[in-house]
Amino acid sequence: MKLLLVCLGNICRSPMAEGVFRHLVRERGLNWQIDSAGTADYHVGEAPDPRACQASSDAGIDISALRARQVEAKDFLRFDWILALDGGNLRALHAQTNSDASAQIGLLLDPFLEGKQNSEVADPYWGDLADFQRCLIQIQHAAEDVIARIS
Ligand code: 4NP
Repeated sequence: MKLLLVCLGNICRSPMAEGVFRHLVRERGLNWQIDSAGTADYHVGEAPDPRACQASSDAGIDISALRARQVEAKDFLRFDWILALDGGNLRALHAQTNSDASAQIGLLLDPFLEGKQNSEVADPYWGDLADFQRCLIQIQHAAEDVIARIS
């Protein structure tokens, strides 16, 4: 399984999601490839936000070596699933994909049913460490669910 996690800047939510998935699939001995990217280019090349690194490291997950990149056309051919962290980024993915794409696109919290209420991981960028910690817990639950449902 090749899975791409997508948020806006690829410095807060999706690198935390990449770290959580890498951790879980390693723990479970699953042969999944995990990556993350942003729909925007604001932070390309940057390390994850220090608060994302802190929240992850508190959970035993090191994401400090990750670097932000933007979603690119070939991602829609390379990955089996591309999961957005919120509806805005899901719409951006739908706008960028085309009929050649092999990847299935959905929401991390709701991979099969788009648009259910409360199916977004809220952007913690303008918040504080506690917002990042809440975000990480939400992602951890979602990741367990996704692994069970899309394996
Ligand atoms: P992310 O958070 O999409 O979870 O990485 C954000 C990072 C940067 C910005 C917004 C959200 N920004 O506006 O620069």
